[in-house]
Amino acid sequence: MTVTIVGSQLGDEGKGGVVDVYGDAADVVARYQGGDNAGHTVVHDGEKYKLSLVPSGAVRDKVGVLGNGCVVNPETLFEEIDALRERGLEPDVRVAERAHVILPYHRALDGIEEEEKADLAAGTTKRGIGPTYEDKAGRRGVRIGDLLEPEVLRERLEYVVPQKKALAEEVFGKETGEAFDIDHLYETYREYGERLAEEGMTVDCGTFLQERIDAGDDVMLEGAQGTSIDIDHGIYPYVTSSNPTAGGAAVGTGLGPTVVGRGDVIGIVKAYLSRVGTGPLPTELGGVEGQTPGYDADEGADPEEEDLATYIRDEGGEYGTVTGRPRRVGWLDVPMLRHAARANGFTGLAINHVDVLAGLDEVKVGHSYEFDGEEIFTMPPTTEQWGRCEATLKTFDGWPAVDWAEVAEEGYDAIPENARTYLEYVSEELDAPIYAIGVGPGREETVVLENPYE
Ligand code: GDP
Ligand code: IMO
Ligand code: MG
Repeated sequence: MTVTIVGSQLGDEGKGGVVDVYGDAADVVARYQGGDNAGHTVVHDGEKYKLSLVPSGAVRDKVGVLGNGCVVNPETLFEEIDALRERGLEPDVRVAERAHVILPYHRALDGIEEEEKADLAAGTTKRGIGPTYEDKAGRRGVRIGDLLEPEVLRERLEYVVPQKKALAEEVFGKETGEAFDIDHLYETYREYGERLAEEGMTVDCGTFLQERIDAGDDVMLEGAQGTSIDIDHGIYPYVTSSNPTAGGAAVGTGLGPTVVGRGDVIGIVKAYLSRVGTGPLPTELGGVEGQTPGYDADEGADPEEEDLATYIRDEGGEYGTVTGRPRRVGWLDVPMLRHAARANGFTGLAINHVDVLAGLDEVKVGHSYEFDGEEIFTMPPTTEQWGRCEATLKTFDGWPAVDWAEVAEEGYDAIPENARTYLEYVSEELDAPIYAIGVGPGREETVVLENPYE
């Protein structure tokens, strides 16, 4: 059977940690969308692993699969595998032959377009994700299977590279180098193809997974990003270019929707909001220059709000792992979660970072929005409409900081009562039971109420 893990907000909800908790019972962990724009953290025996492409299960000897819905940068893939090997692990990673390849010109164009877009820029990770999915939809992409067939690779590159070069040079007026050089790309990517073939890494993803399921194996489908940055269901255009929502798990692996639907779909919820990138955020506290629209750090926002934002940011370690830039933070946005619960059909929830809010006198949530004089309970369809929404807050009494490791050991009833009230409110609003509660970054710091594989 399958268990699907989906981010219910804006990414970084702690999906890697939940995959680790539940994935232990699984045999195969497959990603179904996105690429090395993800950053999934697994804390294993006190060791921290940050994975951007390799499925989180790889740190626990599971077979990791990158599904056909993923976009794969072979350079990152091999770097990550080699780094894990250096740390004494033996990751077994398979890659769908149907997955698309991120080429150096995709990365270059991602950077160029972000600069050009100004206010419309999503603040991408500049990993070439959007340009690669564009080429996939434009039927001019290079797929993993093509890397193993040099003539096909050459033919594809000869068609597409001159277009990309012209785009960079003539439309955007940029100089181009080897990232746009057919011979260089051909040699480099043919070699990646050779390594993929030598290590027996490529698979027909849907067939591979279905055969494992038929043989009785348990499969975990690991979503990256989150529902509100889904290209169809998110805050377009401040989104990623794939479908993190549960439907993507079928399309992006080749398993049927009925197969995915027979298993659990677990929504991962951060107990507050964090956001890397631009666009509106109705429950935002304070702001971050360069990301919060119209925010000026010298003027700041309401000082009390700024203090709260700083508190949550520091307690939750909400700083970019690479750049150290502060992330935007806010109260839990319940209309956003209702939207996610519907779009994904959550059968269960994992609510993380409950420890981060400990110590506050009051914890608030955006319960509904006031939108053009009306009260609404879910996200409106356009981002401009969402930007006009004002969150109507609901206040909960805060809970104290306690020994969370001990709480995790003792179980649900050991969680401070006010925190339980908060959790039960979320579960009721989303009409989905709580499967797990994260009270710290480590696997032991999880209160597990339900194991989907049992
Ligand atoms: P992902 O992208 O959804 O996998 O999440 P990230 O790994 O990018 O970000 C989550 C961060 O929060 C990581 O540093 C985790 O180790 C940490 N984390 C996960 N769950 C919890 C939790 O319940 N409490 C705390 N304090 N940290 C957590
Ligand atoms: P995980 O899997 C948080 C955001 C970027 C940007 C937008 C588009 O760790 O939760 P992209 O590079 O994908 O074209 O950027 O999406 N973004 C994420 N935010 N967590 C992620 O992944 C993200 N992946 C992309 O900040 O706003
Ligand atoms: Mg992340």
